[in-house]
Amino acid sequence: MATVAIYSLKGGVGKTTLSVNLAWCAATLSARRTLLWDLDPQAASTWVLGGAGKVDQAQAMFSKDVPVAKQARPTAYRHLDLIAADASLRGLDQLFHDLDKKKRLAKLLADLKTYDRVILDCPPGLTETADQVMRAADLIVIPVIPSPLSTRAYEAVVDHLGGRTALLPVHVMVDKRRALHAEALDRHSDWPVIPMASGIESMAVKRAPVGVFAPKSAAAQAFADLWRRIEHRLSA
Ligand SMILES: Nc1ncnc2c1ncn2[C@@H]1O[C@H](COP(=O)(O)OP(=O)(O)OP(=O)(O)O)[C@@H](O)[C@H]1O
Ligand SMILES: [Mg+2]
Repeated sequence: MATVAIYSLKGGVGKTTLSVNLAWCAATLSARRTLLWDLDPQAASTWVLGGAGKVDQAQAMFSKDVPVAKQARPTAYRHLDLIAADASLRGLDQLFHDLDKKKRLAKLLADLKTYDRVILDCPPGLTETADQVMRAADLIVIPVIPSPLSTRAYEAVVDHLGGRTALLPVHVMVDKRRALHAEALDRHSDWPVIPMASGIESMAVKRAPVGVFAPKSAAAQAFADLWRRIEHRLSA
């Protein structure tokens, strides 16, 4: 089993978008038994995948004896299960702080060995939750909008981690016609690219991964290519 966290210091940069689409790619294109674990109290991944979290269940897994594997439920897609988020996760940082168990999330992940791939949709910020994620993940995928402030946030995460965890920065919401975007892509030509696309925004309207409703689109292709890069990194 390998855990891939989709994380950024910044909000609204495409973490949930990557989480849902990469989880779908893992399940559908690679036929991996895949779990998407929604760790964000906004519960956006949960909403897109049609799972309504039971109130107060999401945090209970971290504090009480609620077996984590039992919280996973099937989605509409073969091989793809979901652990839903709900508003109780608002207290997760405080809970991790109070528990004082630095590897609580890693330990819970060890109970999910029936899955080949676990994707974590993380809330933004350098929080206790982020530190738990960084200790637990095999690979951290970081969406970076090609702008100086996003790049700065990415560098802050690199500094914070000090080389402890494998990172994969990904340029997202890319519009090559913009000078700043073109410059950033030149500077980091080895980073994968997800284009700015209205089809990607439609995900929240259609409540489905892009590969389901626009399988031939450039966006669906970009997610598939990114997933292949991730598989390659995991097997290296
Ligand atoms: N490549 C893209 N092209 C067009 N729109 C995008 C793209 N990626 C994300 N978006 C849109 O940007 C908004 C933010 O994306 P998303 O919710 O995935 O970010 P997030 O990092 O998970 O946000 P939060 O920090 O609130 O959890 C959404 O409206 C989403 O549809
Ligand atoms: Mg999100």
